[in-house]
Amino acid sequence: MLTNTLVRTVISGAIAVTAVLPPAAYAQTDSGSTVADPPTFYSNVLPILQDNCQVCHQPAGLNLGGMVAPMSLMTYEETRPWAGAMALAVEHRKMPPWHASRAFEGKFQGERYLDEAEIETIVAWAEAGAPEGTPPSNWEAPEPDKEADGGWALGEPDLILELDEPFLLEDDVEDLYVTLTATLTEDMLPEYRWIKSVEYRPGPYVHHILRGMGGLAPGNQPIIYDNGYGRLMPEGPRAIEFDMHYHKEAGEETAAYDQTEVGIRFMEPGEVVRYRTTSEMLGIMDFVIPPDESSYSASREYHFEEDVYIAGFTPHMHLRGKAALYELTYPDGRHEQLLHVPSYDFSWQHSYDFKEPVRVPAGSTLRFTLWWDNSEENPSNPDPTVEVRYGEPTTAEMGFGFMQLRAIEEDEIIVGQPISDEVRRLYGETIPMSNDAEDRRRSGSGQ
Ligand code: HEC
Repeated sequence: MLTNTLVRTVISGAIAVTAVLPPAAYAQTDSGSTVADPPTFYSNVLPILQDNCQVCHQPAGLNLGGMVAPMSLMTYEETRPWAGAMALAVEHRKMPPWHASRAFEGKFQGERYLDEAEIETIVAWAEAGAPEGTPPSNWEAPEPDKEADGGWALGEPDLILELDEPFLLEDDVEDLYVTLTATLTEDMLPEYRWIKSVEYRPGPYVHHILRGMGGLAPGNQPIIYDNGYGRLMPEGPRAIEFDMHYHKEAGEETAAYDQTEVGIRFMEPGEVVRYRTTSEMLGIMDFVIPPDESSYSASREYHFEEDVYIAGFTPHMHLRGKAALYELTYPDGRHEQLLHVPSYDFSWQHSYDFKEPVRVPAGSTLRFTLWWDNSEENPSNPDPTVEVRYGEPTTAEMGFGFMQLRAIEEDEIIVGQPISDEVRRLYGETIPMSNDAEDRRRSGSGQ
């Protein structure tokens, strides 16, 4: 398995990659066998990249910016030096990043899987020395630069929130967790509005953001409230807190300022909000993980007292997080696994949102189980020699199963018309319970 250190070394530059894994090494392991027609970039590899990789691996666009695209894989020249690293990444199922077990393919929005043939194509291409092939006659070098309209993938926002001050990341910073605020003044938002979309424009080295306006993590697309989902943004003045995680290589002249921005667009009068969603924390806090324990688990049950839809899950642990499982037992005894994340990775805080929400009858029970790996086998483990309990720093652990629920009954709220206190309460932002129990009332999306 690739360790994080290796990954970080690998992504720190194309030169490192060629040093670690010269494509020639692949060619040698293959010597003797005669491959008639090795795959080429244009005929075989490019289509896979277009469908599965370029959404993140491009110089700019979709607001995944510097955070998510350590390198661009748009052209042959850009991709070639990464051939060896790509083969490793896809063989180990590290890329494209998606952590639900393959048994759930087809169930979740935004899922990412490569099939065996695609993996073999990339590996064979790297082994053959990454041949270019001939561009199709209609080939034009892609122009991914979306900076034209100020860099907002969804268009000019109605409101831009910005961290109150530029935040300095010093040379020696590697991983840094800090809570920063952005002030929403009364002028900016004199009265509540219905949010249509939230798009982050992260500054340098932003790895992920919890809380704030719904959060940002590697691989997240802008949040779009669509198809009847809605969320209120209460008026200013108020301070909105963002839990920032910065990650960079420490070193001379690596210091940089971040002043992340969030672009918010609002719904137009006349649009209709129908789906009321709530979030259940499903917290497990009472645990003690012994030193060197490679598979410590804890479970919790949640009993459904009324019919409801489950819209999605967001398991959240820290660096020792290993796996998560959600199982539902229906009142008639029928048992179903709803989500299994066999190899949880703290770097990727996925929300697993069902394409079709799961209808759950009253009397059902959800069992939610988490596993942690506090052994030295876990490359992210900051210290396998200590007992680990619940706590906010990433070096302590958390155990959340955040579950998004959608009411069976639908509302019909016309945007632009006055709302009741009840609607305000049900659709407004919630105050987070702790640093980490952020507002996850994310209400579906229409990506
Ligand atoms: C959702 C965004 C996303 C997608 C989709 C994606 N990547 Fe990545 N990729 C990243 C990020 C972010 C990193 C930086 C490493 C990290 O933080 O995990 C990365 C790192 C890499 C690396 C560096 C080494 C490594 O193993 O981590 C390679 C190679 C790579 N990606 C190849 C690919 C290929 C090939 C695809 C498509 C099959 C792909 N990626 C799809 C976001 C993405």
